[in-house]
Amino acid sequence: LSCRDVKVRAGDASYEVLIGTGLLADVGSLSRNVLVPPPRRILLVADTGLPDATRDRVAGSLESAGFGTHSVCAIATEREKSIQSFQRLHVEAARFGIDRGDALVALGGGIVGDLTGFVAATHRRGVRVIQCPTTLLAMVDASVGGKTGVNLQADGMLLKNFVGSFHQPERVIASVEVLESLDERQFRSGLAECIKHTMIAGELDPTLGDWTRDNLNAILSRQDGVLIELIARNVAIKASIVASDEHETAATGGRALLNLGHTFAHAIETIDTLTPDGDPGNAPLLHGEAVALGLVAAASAARQMKLVSNEFVRTTIEMVADAKLPTQISHLPDTGQILDRMTHDKKALGGVMRAVLPIGPGQCKTVETPPLDALRCGIDSIRA
Ligand SMILES: NC(=O)c1ccc[n+]([C@@H]2O[C@H](COP(=O)([O-])OP(=O)(O)OC[C@H]3O[C@@H](n4cnc5c(N)ncnc54)[C@H](O)[C@@H]3O)[C@@H](O)[C@H]2O)c1
Repeated sequence: LSCRDVKVRAGDASYEVLIGTGLLADVGSLSRNVLVPPPRRILLVADTGLPDATRDRVAGSLESAGFGTHSVCAIATEREKSIQSFQRLHVEAARFGIDRGDALVALGGGIVGDLTGFVAATHRRGVRVIQCPTTLLAMVDASVGGKTGVNLQADGMLLKNFVGSFHQPERVIASVEVLESLDERQFRSGLAECIKHTMIAGELDPTLGDWTRDNLNAILSRQDGVLIELIARNVAIKASIVASDEHETAATGGRALLNLGHTFAHAIETIDTLTPDGDPGNAPLLHGEAVALGLVAAASAARQMKLVSNEFVRTTIEMVADAKLPTQISHLPDTGQILDRMTHDKKALGGVMRAVLPIGPGQCKTVETPPLDALRCGIDSIRA
């Protein structure tokens, strides 16, 4: 299978996202190509959820390419995406002797990527980083665009991604066979971000929605060729949006569009008691599952504001359901409580609440201070 490469331009930075199979055994040489001058040392931060063989393949390849390599692990939970883990990795980097000319490699899902990226952004005021995403979500979204960070625990709440910075990677290497070991819920969770991209793609890729729908079975059965195409097209969307608005400062549209569904998602994803099928024995809601519900809520809120039709909402629900993602959830706290959590969202900058809402197929816009009625309607639409 051929390897695809998608270019990302963000401010002064320009880098490639390589998408293919069997790339992990070449992470060393693929890093050497872009890390000029070459680092002496590389700190590899590996997700503990990965099979040992995956981590060893990457570490071996870095060593073969001549880098002094030290591997450390990071646990991928939102609680561990913390200032404490950030501090621990800085200490590991300092003990290993990472200096300004050296580099970090993040091997893992979005949590490990965001955490490692933030350590790279700040270690000795910044070292280079290579992102090797190992979940679908990290491949199509988190590893691209340079947002890095950790969560903050304050007043009994987990404030998502509250501390962080922009730090673009030197290269992103996505090798799709690594997804074989990813559990089903995690895989589908990544598909939620792909569905989100179909809802904002517009002129960037007008056929992405239809293509994704037509290939859903091949995607769900993780056929390498289809995954490479899916990831390449999704990365291209994210790359164009990031290029237009690296630091999310555009007054309308721009990078904020990537937050479609996230205002709702952030309000529910940290409620530990919520599970996608209401079974308290199951693991709590995943980020992508919360985004899936957020997309349905955003569509319903937009319908209430007469921005989209009933048909649009039905199609959105259908797409989410076909990807085997939740469209409704039981045991949701009362609507007022969810609204409170939404206003805590960091996108409520300076007290102004902003939500991204769809206005038609492939089209969205940022709405300042959306009417509470519409938000309530969105929340109620996902209540089972
Ligand atoms: N920086 C960004 O632009 C951006 C964008 C979207 C999401 N995010 C962040 O990404 C995080 C979610 O990332 P995620 O969905 O990748 O989940 P994750 O990082 O929580 O990983 C999910 C689980 O899969 C395991 N895992 C990872 N790769 C595996 C593999 N190949 N095989 C088996 N298990 C594997 C992990 O150990 C973890 O248990 C959130 O914290 C979110 O805020 C960041």
